[in-house]
Amino acid sequence: MKFFIDSADIEAITEFTKSGMVDGVTTNPSIIAKSGRDFKDVIKEICSITSGPVSAEVTATNAEGMIEEGLVLSKIAKNVAIKVPLTWAGLEACKALSDKKIMINVTLCFSATQALLAAKAGATFISPFIGRLDDIGEDGMDLIRDIKTIYDNYPMLKTEILAASVRNIEHVKKAALYGADIATLPPQVVSELANHPLTDKGLKAFLDDWNDSGQKIL
Ligand code: E4P
Repeated sequence: MKFFIDSADIEAITEFTKSGMVDGVTTNPSIIAKSGRDFKDVIKEICSITSGPVSAEVTATNAEGMIEEGLVLSKIAKNVAIKVPLTWAGLEACKALSDKKIMINVTLCFSATQALLAAKAGATFISPFIGRLDDIGEDGMDLIRDIKTIYDNYPMLKTEILAASVRNIEHVKKAALYGADIATLPPQVVSELANHPLTDKGLKAFLDDWNDSGQKIL
């Protein structure tokens, strides 16, 4: 499973990239606004840190505008993926831009039929929003499972399932169990991934015993 970082926090992206676990980055207009930085500058900087896909979202609401914005954003770097919303205009833009061999991430997906449309429109990635479905009392993981089943039924569909709106480690585990290709994770969730209290406890005991032994490796 690939991990993307869902953030425009340069320090966090740089730090996690060093671990070799980062396969790409996703942003959205809210994340960019929170960064307080110029959109194109920050996308350019992220693209210089990771060679994986970096999602930059259009803000036009009609297909023509989305295509125009997508073409501009795609020139920032080779690894920019254009993010378009799952609307009819977004699907039209997805088709037009993917026909030009530009990577497309179709975002704000909340149903399996929406995911089917995105795949037919040539999306590189489909982003089902797990956490936001949980927020309204549904189980976001059901959506991952349904999309996986549908895509597997039609091997000609090459769209990758990018689990988004991931809020905790349980989401990551279930997304992996149900076959999502990628999960995009806020930095806080990435930090928590390697943590376990028994790891900390076990390591402390090993080091205490080691120190008592008086030995050294180097
Ligand atoms: C994904 O691409 C989105 O940027 C993100 O995962 C949305 O997450 P949220 O629902 O926590 O805002």
